[in-house]
Amino acid sequence: MKLVKSMTALLCAAQVGLATLASAAPLSITLPPETAAFKPSTMPGYALAQQKCSVCHSADYINFQPPGMSLAQWTAEAGKMQHVYGAPISDQDVSVIGAYLAVTYGSAKANDADVQAASNAPAVAVAKVDAKALLQNNACLSCHAIDHKVVGPAYRDVAAKYAKDPQAMDRLMSSIQHGGSGKWGDVPMPPFAQLSPDDLKSLATFIMSQ
Ligand code: HEC
Ligand code: HEC
Repeated sequence: MKLVKSMTALLCAAQVGLATLASAAPLSITLPPETAAFKPSTMPGYALAQQKCSVCHSADYINFQPPGMSLAQWTAEAGKMQHVYGAPISDQDVSVIGAYLAVTYGSAKANDADVQAASNAPAVAVAKVDAKALLQNNACLSCHAIDHKVVGPAYRDVAAKYAKDPQAMDRLMSSIQHGGSGKWGDVPMPPFAQLSPDDLKSLATFIMSQ
């Protein structure tokens, strides 16, 4: 009970602090003090949690949770902030932040399949939207299809060939940019030198997710 009270006090202090800050400089963001910071991670949920979970209270709230919580439990906790306390976060945020918290503070492992799906699904979904337009606009689909060979290999076969290759993204981005020949047959693939690094990345991500 004492803990709950002091947490509420902390929450009020944080809100007052934020309100003062908001009127003075609406666009600046203060990070919580070092002791109450989120634990660093390479997972995408780390940055999101820093942005979105520090608005109402400090990261101490996460430290106060019992250790060993699962992906489902941490995702439910983030979902509760959204549904019960009105945290301005999307369903995607909930799943990405839940994955980060479960690995960093709970019992989940970064390479668990369900953790990876929760953590990466939104990024792939976003890439798919851009990538489809890029495929259309660059005539990729006149030579390629997802699931059968046309002039060039099926994207599903490309994904399978490089599935275990840690350099897959770099190789595909380079093949698309510079073209190539001899890897799949005698017909060469023309270069697409005008594509930006972002475009190349989104195309390679899309192809690898087939
Ligand atoms: C809109 C404000 C708001 C935001 C944003 C917010 N929370 Fe909370 N959070 C609360 C409130 C209110 C409580 C309950 C405080 C209390 O009981 O003193 C709470 C409590 C908690 C607790 C303690 C356990 C519990 O269920 O009460 C945890 C853990 C927590 N939040 C995690 C998060 C995470 C993770 C995020 C980011 C996804 C987040 N919070 C974002 C308002 C918010
Ligand atoms: C004129 C036909 C043609 C067009 C247009 C084309 N490709 Fe290709 N693509 C090929 C051929 C042929 C190959 C096989 C080359 C080889 O054997 O090395 C290939 C291979 C590839 C590969 C596999 C590369 C590797 O390293 O194994 C990828 C990825 C790829 N294409 C993506 C794309 C994308 C993305 C676009 C549009 C920006 C595109 N292609 C447009 C014909 C084409």
